[in-house]
Amino acid sequence: MTRMPSTIAPGPRDPVAESSETLVICVFAGAVGEHPTVRAVNSALDGALLEQVRSAEFEGKADQLLELPTLGRLKTKKVVLVGAGSSEEASSARLRSAVATGVRAGTSAGGRLVVVLPRNDSDLRVAGEGAGLGAYRFTKYLTGDRRPKHELSRIDVCLPSKPIDAAGKKALSLGAEIASAVAIARDAVNEPPNVLVPEKLAQIARGIAREHKLKIKVLDKAGILAAGMNLHYAVGQGSANEPRFIHLTYQPAQQKKPAPRGKRGSRNRNEAKRIAFVGKGLTFDSGGLCIKPAQGMGEMKSDMAGAAAVLGLMAAVGVLRPELEVHGIVGAAENMPDGAAYRPADIFTSLDGKTVEIINTDAEGRLVLADALAYAARLEPDLIVDAATLTGAALVALGKTYSAYYATDDAFGSKLENAAREAGEGFWRMPLIDELTDQLKSDVADLKHTGDRWGGSITAALFLREFVGGVPWIHCDIAGPVLSDRAKGAVPKGATGHGVLTFARFVEALAE
Ligand code: BES
Ligand code: MN
Ligand code: ZN
Repeated sequence: MTRMPSTIAPGPRDPVAESSETLVICVFAGAVGEHPTVRAVNSALDGALLEQVRSAEFEGKADQLLELPTLGRLKTKKVVLVGAGSSEEASSARLRSAVATGVRAGTSAGGRLVVVLPRNDSDLRVAGEGAGLGAYRFTKYLTGDRRPKHELSRIDVCLPSKPIDAAGKKALSLGAEIASAVAIARDAVNEPPNVLVPEKLAQIARGIAREHKLKIKVLDKAGILAAGMNLHYAVGQGSANEPRFIHLTYQPAQQKKPAPRGKRGSRNRNEAKRIAFVGKGLTFDSGGLCIKPAQGMGEMKSDMAGAAAVLGLMAAVGVLRPELEVHGIVGAAENMPDGAAYRPADIFTSLDGKTVEIINTDAEGRLVLADALAYAARLEPDLIVDAATLTGAALVALGKTYSAYYATDDAFGSKLENAAREAGEGFWRMPLIDELTDQLKSDVADLKHTGDRWGGSITAALFLREFVGGVPWIHCDIAGPVLSDRAKGAVPKGATGHGVLTFARFVEALAE
């Protein structure tokens, strides 16, 4: 399971005076020797620290690391310097990343880790996020000597030259709780697909609902059919692990004005009072009868990363408690080849009544989402946001660090992009090219569910747009960044939890 220290809390007034396993100091580029803690450590070590800084050419560039054992000359066993980049370009993304990088460098030593931030007005919420994100490891299935030798017992966070006040302490623990929400998403994606079946996603959702007092509704296979979500049902019908439909609702304590039903557009632009997030929850995507090649098929355990991001978001919302109604909707299923599996040429009627001709059973995500989006539209939200590992084409277009997003509303779109920047997550806007909808014309049904190869991420988005019923909508094709080949900044190797921070920040911005 997730390995995060039980406590991330304000540290000692003088970080150098207390014993610790690791002392992490975050420093701005070009100002390494000006940091009070660097000075203190340097003089205790008779100048050895700054000498090392020079010889290792440590400049304090973003996420640059320098590690120095103190050989018993200090109360801490190891000093780690981590770069936060230039102070002029200081941002929450940079700070979060630097803190995470420094904490990760200290996790293997375990014990007590003390982090000193680059300046007194550093954002403690973001520092708490970075500390929790950097400490994350997925070790549930390691046994014997494969288990990590040491565990972090606590992370103490300090400002360079003043104590953390009550408000700072609150911000720090809020950040740590947000990191835990991201860890929910990471854990779910890292979990193997024999364990993380659709019902397991429902269990995770129930746990979040219980902890944060959210409303929850779960439909099983029969319930999905009875509700008329035939596309979702079709995708799951070839698997022994039955599908689930999950709907979490967060209701603010006292909404200033209750959102009027059926009066969309009557409010000011971008004044959202109700927002619905929808996540693709394919716990494994074998491709179905149009089976994928063996090479890389295992990565399709991450095909529920959109659902994971939505569940992580709902946990974050439970902590942030914004003045905005937030719905978290997940369509969960497993796409398998089987005698009962759906096939190319099948036709199904979606929740909103449109008929869909199946072309390729490996384009299953958009089918599950179509019903979930139609369901979300019925809630009459001001905005629907979906997150889905939808197409390989998005990966080809933007690589492994950026999500492709599509927006029917420019103002909501740029708000999302601002949130992503603050979150330090890559989101790049892509166009909804209307003329490509021709590719979705079917001879025998209202819609074909795939177009040709070119513009594959766009045609997938255009297919989804058919089901949002005119509600302002943002679609995030997160296929690239949900898994990382290496640890970097706030991101670990493996599942990243991509989306949770951006969506949480976005919800906060909408509630402001
Ligand atoms: N889950 C995949 C998309 C995917 C591919 C995510 C690689 C991450 C990495 C999706 O269900 C899929 O198979 N999409 C097909 C669509 C095609 C059949 C129209 C694709 O992208 O190849
Ligand atoms: Mn697929
Ligand atoms: Zn898929």
